[in-house]
Amino acid sequence: MLNMPRFLLDDARAMRDPYPVYRRLRDHGPVCRGGPGQWVFPRYEEVSALLRDPRLGREFPEEYQEMSVGAGPANDYLRRIVVDRDRPGHTRLRRLLVKSLSPAMVRGMREPVGRLVDGLLDRFADEGRFDLVRDLAVPVPMMVMSELLDIPRPDRADIARLSTSLAQAFAVFIPEDKRREAHSAVVELREYMVGLLRERRRRPGEDLLSRMITAVRDGEEPLTDEEIIDNALFVYYAGFETTTNAIATGGDLFLRQPHTQRQLRADPGIVGSAVEEFLRYDAPIHATTRMAVEPVEVAGLTIRKGRVVVLLLASANHDERVFRDPARADLTRSPNAHLSFGGGVHLCLGAALARVEGAVVFERLVTRFADIESAGEGVWEPSEGGFRFPYWAHRGMPVAVRPA
Ligand code: HEM
Repeated sequence: MLNMPRFLLDDARAMRDPYPVYRRLRDHGPVCRGGPGQWVFPRYEEVSALLRDPRLGREFPEEYQEMSVGAGPANDYLRRIVVDRDRPGHTRLRRLLVKSLSPAMVRGMREPVGRLVDGLLDRFADEGRFDLVRDLAVPVPMMVMSELLDIPRPDRADIARLSTSLAQAFAVFIPEDKRREAHSAVVELREYMVGLLRERRRRPGEDLLSRMITAVRDGEEPLTDEEIIDNALFVYYAGFETTTNAIATGGDLFLRQPHTQRQLRADPGIVGSAVEEFLRYDAPIHATTRMAVEPVEVAGLTIRKGRVVVLLLASANHDERVFRDPARADLTRSPNAHLSFGGGVHLCLGAALARVEGAVVFERLVTRFADIESAGEGVWEPSEGGFRFPYWAHRGMPVAVRPA
């Protein structure tokens, strides 16, 4: 126990280049120490099992959230959203949300996402260069989530900006000025959503908000306005920065491991499994946390009630015990049971939509362009938003393309 390594989520080395750090942790053993009262799990077996363990919950005590985001309106936002609730509240919310994010709705998004990606690529096809992150990986999910909620076009940029500020509330640690930003963003966003909700009640459509208003399930209390608003804000952002990171990883692999580009060009039919490999290769969300609501025995250790566990999803995805040659991207890897969408009762509700977006983007990239090459230094910096912050992310990736 005493010689157990310590891993802190804000470790400066890990934020910039985490995989060598993860590897050392995995090599050392199944568990290591984290911050006060925290245990950190770097290997696949434990991460996968603990994600599914009902003795671990997501409802952290109020003081815990206040310690990270500070007291204010973002606190009750965090207490109301599906990802931060436990049974029975979580079960009810999730059931109602599943109805709003149905497989039919996701299938229906394939065409519009294709049009959107084509529209963006048309703009750069003549010039022969663009920035794969700024011009593609950022706008696609933002536009898709705005469509899903049917946010009026003139408001989209403002809502995206405010959501990025609110998402700071998910960060591992939050500097003082960012805390203020998160609190004032939630106030502004709620005000905006109240208006949008009123409008959708008058004129319901096919969008997520309208579906949430009408989502009723046998024996289940319908969603309250506060629940609709805060969960719609969460879903909007949940599908935003995460998908951006997944697309950026695929782009980066195209440039730095060019065999991936050749593999997909040779058979665009493997695009689904290519997207899974991009997701495995660099999990858009590196870690998630849980709190023990009952004692849990794992890896020869008893996690006492109230202790926090940190599950290193990105490290589990590179566990040599499960994934052969994990640092090499193989777009036909099978099986590929990565944990990038989490697991258990909180398994990502937008996974199908994210997969559609990724598949459409990469299918279009390899069929429209004969090759994609680096056209300058990429930008690799601390991410702005919540889920990955303070970990670094691709913020710019200039590429040159030749029409096919
Ligand atoms: C590549 C893109 C995405 C990744 C990697 C991702 C990852 C995740 C992860 C790891 C979780 C579980 C968190 C935990 O257990 O602590 C999660 C939950 C969730 N995600 Fe995603 N996500 C993505 C895209 C999306 C999209 C597009 C949407 C919405 C359309 C979405 C909506 C949600 C929701 C609502 C939850 C909470 C589910 C629950 O608590 O029951 N995600 N996501």
